[in-house]
Amino acid sequence: MSSQPIGIFDSGIGGLTIAHAIKQKLPNENIIYFGDTKHLPYGEKSNEAIKHYSLKIAKFLKENNCKIIVIACNSASSVAYEFIKSNVSSIPIYNVIDPIIKNLSNKKYINKKIGVIGTKATIKSNIYQKKIEAKITSQIVSLETPLLAPMIEEGFFNQDISMTIIKKYLENKNLNKIDSLILACTHYPLIKKQIKKFYDNNVEVIDSSIITANYIKKQLEKKGMLNINKKPTYSFIVSNLTKSFSKSATFFFKEKIILNENDIWKEI
Ligand code: DGL
Repeated sequence: MSSQPIGIFDSGIGGLTIAHAIKQKLPNENIIYFGDTKHLPYGEKSNEAIKHYSLKIAKFLKENNCKIIVIACNSASSVAYEFIKSNVSSIPIYNVIDPIIKNLSNKKYINKKIGVIGTKATIKSNIYQKKIEAKITSQIVSLETPLLAPMIEEGFFNQDISMTIIKKYLENKNLNKIDSLILACTHYPLIKKQIKKFYDNNVEVIDSSIITANYIKKQLEKKGMLNINKKPTYSFIVSNLTKSFSKSATFFFKEKIILNENDIWKEI
């Protein structure tokens, strides 16, 4: 049981930031990663489409013997988490939002102004606002930042051109005078430095990849599901493989990896 892999999925390769953080925190764990590159971006899709794709992937991961499933995608976590939970039974399902909410229960966030940036699907769902307000009294403001994910995926980060776009979004009056900013998208850890720089380090930037990895570790410990064997195996699967995905995968996972194609939607 404990040697079964952790299943992680995302709309594409951005979720490799979460997979990387999980690998760092849990270096003995076997991992199967599935990126739905055939259907990205999820952030631009309807809730129905995101649920449909996510459920198929979750079932695939379960069939591949995963002991838990981590929905690494913020858009899928926002609109498909409950749906997957009620349709895929017997293994724990985790998302990337609840670990953040748990973290925000800390007193220091009470009566503060918290910003959220993410895809259209994530921001439209209002999930952060609903979940945070159910826990603490604070002001939640959010902004759709749809250009950021494709920009990062094309390798535009740590550059003047990316700073111009980041600045344009963060100057939006919605985000005026925030105390903290939640990076509610798989891709944004790669521009964390630039975001911090924009705020002269005066705004706390909350990175869901690290918080999620810590949370998953605690859950596995609690359930006695940690893998004790060394030499873990990693499998990185995408539903549509291109050279450009292979290239970008390396900077999201911070090391060279081989992606394999498995189009689970193909009729046999
Ligand atoms: N993985 C998505 C998310 O975290 C970003 C890319 C997409 O829109 O598919 O919301």
